[in-house]
Amino acid sequence: MKDDKQINGFSKRSKAEKLQWVIENFFNGHESAAGELRSFWLDDETQNIFDAFSENSISNFILPYGVAPNMLINGKTYCVPMVTEESSVVAAAAAAAKYWSTRGGIKATVVNTKKIGQVHFKWSGQTEKLISVFPELKKELIITASAITTNMDKRGGGILDIELKDLSDKEPDYYQLFTHFDTCDSMGANFINSVLEQFGRTLRLFIQTHPAFDETDREVDIIMCILSNYTPECLVKAEVSCTIDELGDECLEMDAVGFAERFATAIRIAEIDSYRATTHNKGIFNGIDAVVIATGNDFRAIEASGHTYAARSGIYKSLSKCTIKDNIFSFNLEIPLAIGTIGGLTKLHPIARHSLEMLGHPSAPELMTIIAATGLMQNFAAIRSLVTTGIQKGHMKMHLMNILNHLSATEQEIEQAFEYFSDKVISFTSVRELITEIREREHKIITD
Ligand code: MEV
Repeated sequence: MKDDKQINGFSKRSKAEKLQWVIENFFNGHESAAGELRSFWLDDETQNIFDAFSENSISNFILPYGVAPNMLINGKTYCVPMVTEESSVVAAAAAAAKYWSTRGGIKATVVNTKKIGQVHFKWSGQTEKLISVFPELKKELIITASAITTNMDKRGGGILDIELKDLSDKEPDYYQLFTHFDTCDSMGANFINSVLEQFGRTLRLFIQTHPAFDETDREVDIIMCILSNYTPECLVKAEVSCTIDELGDECLEMDAVGFAERFATAIRIAEIDSYRATTHNKGIFNGIDAVVIATGNDFRAIEASGHTYAARSGIYKSLSKCTIKDNIFSFNLEIPLAIGTIGGLTKLHPIARHSLEMLGHPSAPELMTIIAATGLMQNFAAIRSLVTTGIQKGHMKMHLMNILNHLSATEQEIEQAFEYFSDKVISFTSVRELITEIREREHKIITD
């Protein structure tokens, strides 16, 4: 059923016309909403860049761009750019980075940078025939994709290996060309998908023409050609460690031994309970996504891969681990991160470009270490709060500030509110009541 809010040809309209149509149909024609959405438009040149990223845009949605300084990774100090809407995230990452910078910093190692792509196809011939000609097919696949792979080969990457997977026991006649890639400093999605689509064409022709097959074998159904966002071989590990004594600081509100034990218990809980593991890993992704977005990378791909990795044993578990052995506290995070530092948004988005500049134009493996280190710091900060003061103490300060900003509180009102709520529970109503009371008091003084 079509109602009067349906439209044909919306995408063909100009940006101004699109906005006008949305305002008329979904904002009751309120010009104030149009004005506000228009106020986030950028100058023509920059806006054109943003409009080319995604379709049907009517405005820009801005998010805070913060930095976590003092991130000491493998002996080098970074100032890490972070994009997030969540209060306390950047502050927590920065505090943990500072804390570990005086305890040896973060060590990070890239385990591997391989990526995976798959051609999913159906073929009803004899599996042995396909296996017997596969070495020949493999050569043909590589040769016919060479126009696409030449540049990547020159950069030291390209197709690493192609496997034939027989999955016909799970789905009738189902096979995969399971392909390993190295995409150097680019995320490589377009490269991988282009190669795979070429593989699909080559495979069809090969089966149609190769003498090993007879007429009944010549039909192949290429179901789809697409990279896998699960990249367990594009892996990085970040870790911190120190003696238990070194863990101590006055903000812990407990001794270092007690803290270390509570911390390790919290990590073990996230290894045995998937409800807790989900929140635990969400905290890690608070940091990871913020850097991934700030550097123009694909946070959905990173999240999808990270969560699959967390469930690789069949049970969804914590991505981080903690050990206490021989008086040494060690905390690490191992996570797949398929990111790029060239191509795509990394070049086109003006702020992403500056993020990479701020990080010293890292290679993709170096950026993997920075992102993993930030995730580790985020996780450390969250668990440290949870097992000591509780998470609300820090959160509530930011929450109070947000409410005060919403109520357009003056500097004096902010000061009074912070003092008043230093030992009270914060809620929107209680803050509004306090500000109203302060304002009424002030008003009375002026009028008396
Ligand atoms: C909030 O965004 C993230 C935390 O819930 C993470 C955690 O519980 O570990 C604090």
